[in-house]
Amino acid sequence: MSRIAFLNARTIADSRGDLTIEVIVELESGARAIASVPQGKSRGRAEAFLLETAKAVENVNQLIASAIQGKDFKNQQALDKFLIALDGTSNKSKLGANACLGVSLAFARASAISRGIPLWQYIRGLVTDKSNMTNGSDRTDRTYKTPRLLVNIIGGGLHAKNNLDFQEYLIIPKTSNVKEAFETAEVIYENVNNHLKSKFGSVLFADEGNFAPNLADNEEPFLIIKEAARAANLSDKIDFGLDAAASNVRMKSNELFNWYYDMKKKYNLLYLEDPFSEEDFENFSELLDKIGDNTIIAGDDLTVTNLQRMERAREQKSINGVIIKPNQIGTLTETIEAVKKAKELGWAVIVSHRSGETNDSFIADLAYGVGADGLKAGAPLAPGRSVKYKRLINLVSGPKNGFTENNEQ
Ligand code: PGA
Ligand code: ZN
Repeated sequence: MSRIAFLNARTIADSRGDLTIEVIVELESGARAIASVPQGKSRGRAEAFLLETAKAVENVNQLIASAIQGKDFKNQQALDKFLIALDGTSNKSKLGANACLGVSLAFARASAISRGIPLWQYIRGLVTDKSNMTNGSDRTDRTYKTPRLLVNIIGGGLHAKNNLDFQEYLIIPKTSNVKEAFETAEVIYENVNNHLKSKFGSVLFADEGNFAPNLADNEEPFLIIKEAARAANLSDKIDFGLDAAASNVRMKSNELFNWYYDMKKKYNLLYLEDPFSEEDFENFSELLDKIGDNTIIAGDDLTVTNLQRMERAREQKSINGVIIKPNQIGTLTETIEAVKKAKELGWAVIVSHRSGETNDSFIADLAYGVGADGLKAGAPLAPGRSVKYKRLINLVSGPKNGFTENNEQ
């Protein structure tokens, strides 16, 4: 049932116009699916290896295609194990994490189609280790929550050409009704847009479709967003978040501490990602100790969806939340292992896109399938971003339980 009858990769453009990889898998059952792989710009140094796209495509079409020919993979774990062994390196630098992930995700989608279940349900089966069964657990299992949205409104750092030091100013609608959450984000995004247009005449954009104005200081984005929410009567409907991406910020750690404390007081910051640079487990730990009771301190570049890095963060008590990005590690199975470990540790799980995205909505199914606490997918209305939010809305409220043509995308 899971013999791969056809495998092919090609290049497509990502949201920045850079080339990335898209993979088609057809199983012997006739199920056929496509998946593509996003690309980060502010990448963690410990991430799995992102191979140059043309080379990754060549690796799928030659090395991987010839190696898997005629093999029957019992399940997702078997395919992913095979890819890891074929690569043979610790960071997938031979085949490329992008090549491996493209194959892994397309296989997952084709397998779901083969079994006649939506992708999120196939993924849930991997979490509950029921992947050999025809169905994963069902939607009524209340231990799986619906993710809250972390929506990027204003940005700076490596994702923009403006003067803001920090990468992402996020709003997190308080409701777990994703349709309502998305609409809240849309209204605030639109109000910020209008404000910036009237102030500057035109609006600059950052990589994730969010705004990239030059502002007076690093606090002003919060002020603008707060005012935009107030004007729409939505002040009490949102929490604030920040992805500092501090590996790329040139402020001293004591300045960072003071600024975070100040912002926490003024804006009731719920979520703070990568507040210090990626090797600074100690300062993460101090911050967690100080404000972790009512703030999610999340690792992204710190942990890179990697069990060893997560273990270090656990030992040092550095975080209580973690970003999960499949392409930081390179297979779906390893991504699920990272989610399971985070859940065991009681950390908040936030499934995330990358700054260079495609129209693939896989991470929406991933977030819903694993019962993540959050889905972070950029600005509400940008190409490559809204498709993910909308897929999640469809999964939660769609008439067909998310089993739509989008399953094959
Ligand atoms: P990246 O940034 O995709 O450019 O690495 C996203 C993030 O830091 O969360
Ligand atoms: Zn980040």
